[in-house]
Amino acid sequence: MVVRKLSRLDYPALDYLLHSDREWLEPWEATTPGIRTALDVRWLIGALLKQHRKGETLAFVIVYQDQVVGQLNVSNILFGSICSGTIGYWIAKEFAGLGITPKAVALVLDYLLGEYGLHRVEIDIKPENQASLRVVQKLKLRHEGTKLRYININGKWSDHEVFAITKEELKGSMLDRL
Ligand SMILES: CC(C)(COP(=O)(O)OP(=O)(O)OC[C@H]1O[C@@H](n2cnc3c(N)ncnc32)[C@H](O)[C@@H]1OP(=O)(O)O)[C@@H](O)C(=O)NCCC(=O)NCCS
Repeated sequence: MVVRKLSRLDYPALDYLLHSDREWLEPWEATTPGIRTALDVRWLIGALLKQHRKGETLAFVIVYQDQVVGQLNVSNILFGSICSGTIGYWIAKEFAGLGITPKAVALVLDYLLGEYGLHRVEIDIKPENQASLRVVQKLKLRHEGTKLRYININGKWSDHEVFAITKEELKGSMLDRL
């Protein structure tokens, strides 16, 4: 399993996965209130790469057995006196349950809290997303509390459980926690 930067060349693979796994992904996707647009993967990749260039977001793909199987983004990146970012992720249904996402998150956390220079990383999860809650449990991230009506998900303001880690809590590699 490898995590690498998103590229425009990932368009065919991501377009296929995001369209064929609509029912699997849609309940957990962030939306912009009042805007209902059809899924446009070329636009999405362009927007992520633009944010990546500006340093606002890091956009990665998750590669398993030489195939793109999912995506991981680090958004809300702030340096200065905050030095924090937020991880979001998804994996294709066909590849769920293989422990790929926890490993991808561990690799990215090691990079963010190490070489990249963040002090704190957050992951926000809807309370009913049992699979995603397992990911942060496996990584032993700290539960900070609940943000009420925090993110617009699939058209509704949704409560989120907040998990985080700061550099002080990182003893060795995140991969060793799995
Ligand atoms: C959440 C998600 C990224 C987890 O990724 P993953 O690579 O499957 O992670 P894991 O292999 O560690 O599995 C985590 C849990 O998912 C559940 N799971 C396993 N296979 C599953 C399947 N085929 N379908 C549904 N859930 C499954 C299990 O409870 C598992 O926990 P366990 O290992 O203790 O049994 C993935 O389920 C997903 O992409 N879901 C849709 C999008 C989403 O929810 N994104 C996160 C928003 S916060």
